[in-house]
Amino acid sequence: MAIVRVPQLGRTFIMPAEIEVFLAGMGVEYRRWTRVNPIPAGAPVEEILKTYGPELDSYRTRRGFSAYDVVDLEPETPGLEEMLRAFRREHWHDDYEARFILAGRGVCNVHPAGRVVTTIELEPGDLISIGPGICHWFDLCAEKRFRAIRFLAAAETGRMEYTGSGIEGDYEPVCMGPAYFPVKAMRPARTVSHSL
Ligand SMILES: [Fe+2]
Repeated sequence: MAIVRVPQLGRTFIMPAEIEVFLAGMGVEYRRWTRVNPIPAGAPVEEILKTYGPELDSYRTRRGFSAYDVVDLEPETPGLEEMLRAFRREHWHDDYEARFILAGRGVCNVHPAGRVVTTIELEPGDLISIGPGICHWFDLCAEKRFRAIRFLAAAETGRMEYTGSGIEGDYEPVCMGPAYFPVKAMRPARTVSHSL
């Protein structure tokens, strides 16, 4: 499950139900899709789609996405640092940015207009969807491992703009990790490569 922090307010959330409500209040959807027997981190795409098919198709239809695919990032992924440099800058899109995490961990910072920054540390089983126009930026945790389902917009409007605020410089991509909260369980990571 995710760890949500609001550094400027000194608040931390670790319970999925609380996280869901808190993030919904700023236009960010959060869900936990779990299985009693989770599939391995490096499971074939076919197995992933078979396992999570009902949730994926239901969500795609509900949000109007045209499709979804699987993205894989690992330390050896060609161009990873260049890719991350782009993700690390505050920006917004005119469509939803939705990911379901399969392996690895990442940090998404969300900065809705007129509000302070909320930091969301994501792990396998987390679905996050950032609404159109909401400023955000993203980075990977130290392992530089990330495997996720990426939902694709129905129309390729493709509008994305960097804010140029530089606010991301005030937030280190520090991942507290499962060890910070003993109730959490780390899952193994594995790989292939792709782009986010
Ligand atoms: Fe984005």
